[in-house]
Amino acid sequence: MAAGVEPLGWSPGDAAGDDVVVRVEAAGFNYKDALCSSGHPGVMRTSPLVPGIDAAGAVVAGGPLPAGMPVVVTGNGMGEVRDGAFATFVRMPAAVLIPRPAGFPAEAAMALGTAGLTALLACDRLAELVVERHAVRDEAWLVTGASGGVGMLSVAVLAASGRRVVACSRKASAAAPLRDLGAVEVVSPDAIRDPTPKSLVKGRWAGVVDTVGGPLLADVLRAVRPGGAVAAIGMAGGADLLTSVHPFILRGVTLAGIDAASLPTHDERAGLWQRLAALWPRVAATFPVTRLALGDVGDWAAKMLAGGTTGRGVVIP
Ligand SMILES: NC(=O)c1ccc[n+]([C@@H]2O[C@H](COP(=O)([O-])OP(=O)(O)OC[C@H]3O[C@@H](n4cnc5c(N)ncnc54)[C@H](OP(=O)(O)O)[C@@H]3O)[C@@H](O)[C@H]2O)c1
Repeated sequence: MAAGVEPLGWSPGDAAGDDVVVRVEAAGFNYKDALCSSGHPGVMRTSPLVPGIDAAGAVVAGGPLPAGMPVVVTGNGMGEVRDGAFATFVRMPAAVLIPRPAGFPAEAAMALGTAGLTALLACDRLAELVVERHAVRDEAWLVTGASGGVGMLSVAVLAASGRRVVACSRKASAAAPLRDLGAVEVVSPDAIRDPTPKSLVKGRWAGVVDTVGGPLLADVLRAVRPGGAVAAIGMAGGADLLTSVHPFILRGVTLAGIDAASLPTHDERAGLWQRLAALWPRVAATFPVTRLALGDVGDWAAKMLAGGTTGRGVVIP
């Protein structure tokens, strides 16, 4: 996609009904966008389609919102069933736009984006399940796929709420930023894998944010402490889960699914964006963010699908 290309079939002044035209100042790069950019039919449900599920910018025209108002918008079919954020303008219904918190620049908002929303949802869910129900305070918490966007931000959110966080990453190069974000230890997947074929192994983790899925999730489930919980977010390492019921019925472990795209209400999302704005100053100096042009999208998507990116990419159209 060439720089400056606008979504097909409309122009900035062309807002229909309640739709609002937003000038995109920055767009977050999510795993879903990598899949869409590669033509994955599970994400790209219509063609042609502009990818990009996260946008931050300012209102240009249309709907009830004043021109110039800083906004963010995520999901709601963008980059899946309607043209998304890897463009200079995006058109969305007024009802799904969220006012961008004061003093939160578009680029910073997109450095966090859906990855940040997902990290907050996962950590909140774990806090309900593990801390409140079982009063487990000083044990180790695990984040897998820790060099990724959701992984790094989950490390930061858990550490900010006082957890002892172990970050699991295949990349030695990610160890320094993960420690800076609050991990007390950085381990490789091999280091936490227990080779014994038992359905339960020594309980190590009070809570787990898992962005990898597949065999790593199955392995981690065997090592969750009694009353612990796992927030299942992603499938970068595989969608199949071969496990047993033993962690659930012998240790009371909870496997909680996180779906950032559809669960939070509009008001809840607005609240989460306020929390992301408050999180940003804590992570700004250490969270790796790569600025991308529209012409970089294809290469970044390929690198991301190969598990080779660290932190977040932000597209500046
Ligand atoms: N449930 C939801 O609402 C929701 C929201 C956002 C994202 N997601 C999902 O969460 C996952 C992570 O998203 P993200 O934006 O953080 O992606 P990302 O930045 O690409 O991070 C994914 C990380 O997974 C790890 N990984 C392990 N095995 C891998 C493999 N075989 N191939 C590729 N990566 C592998 C890598 O970390 P290491 O190298 O450090 O191990 C990689 O950096 C994706 O599956 C995404 O679709 C779900």
